[in-house]
Amino acid sequence: MGTRAISPNTEESLLGTSTSVTESGQPAGVVTHERQTEQLIKSRKRVKEHGEVFTPRRMVEQMLDLVRPELETGPQFVDKTFFEPSAGDGNFLIAILRRKLKAIERRYQPEFWPTESLFAVASIYGIELLEDNLSAAKEGLLAEFTDFHKRNGVRCNYRTNLYRAAEYLLSANILHGNTLTGLDASGELIEFSWWNRVLNLPGLVQREPFTLASIRGASTGAFDFEIYAVYKRCKIDQVHKEVSADD
Ligand SMILES: C[S@@+](CC[C@H](N)C(=O)[O-])C[C@H]1O[C@@H](n2cnc3c(N)ncnc32)[C@H](O)[C@@H]1O
Repeated sequence: MGTRAISPNTEESLLGTSTSVTESGQPAGVVTHERQTEQLIKSRKRVKEHGEVFTPRRMVEQMLDLVRPELETGPQFVDKTFFEPSAGDGNFLIAILRRKLKAIERRYQPEFWPTESLFAVASIYGIELLEDNLSAAKEGLLAEFTDFHKRNGVRCNYRTNLYRAAEYLLSANILHGNTLTGLDASGELIEFSWWNRVLNLPGLVQREPFTLASIRGASTGAFDFEIYAVYKRCKIDQVHKEVSADD
């Protein structure tokens, strides 16, 4: 994930201006397949400054096919975590959520879909430098989630706990920051949370914060001296009520 993808067109065509045209007659940075077009670059400036070249949908799917057991067919697939360090507009993250939701539909009884779909959202993490891309990623993920429930006749709008919990999980998991420095947009250490299931209490979650830096430190044997907030366990559709252990 986060690869600088090259479309079926040539790299030269991707890096061209939006008015230039490739040999196939296509504007540069655009690929067409199955009669759908995709814009893979927004501007030459953004490519130069941020390496912003989006991975074509077909390539996203091919890459996700390589991890089907973790995503949809293996044990505990709902809780397998995915992290996209340069989330862009969320093309990988949305495809990951879509596959997890489809697999939940196939493998669980309908009464479990709300809870399992929230654990699926909780398993997906991302960081993005540019605010417009970050918003697109979060909006796309929430739309995928609400569409899934609406298709299945489950109420999911801003008045429901289901929607609010998903929105809250996304705001905690998909962050505005710089993966390379480990800092968020306000210069603080990037902080995520694990959303652990509580043993023998289905539907309950225990939030456990951690910093991105702590994960990197762990691989070098460094101690984590951060002091984290402590949360009470709660039902996952109540997670937005953010009850701290001190309350
Ligand atoms: C090559 S695009 C890839 C987007 C998406 N992952 C994809 O494959 O289509 C790179 C994205 O990473 C973001 N980015 C660049 N440097 C970053 C950094 N240090 N931390 C987080 N995001 C970064 C850019 O803003 C851009 O949206």
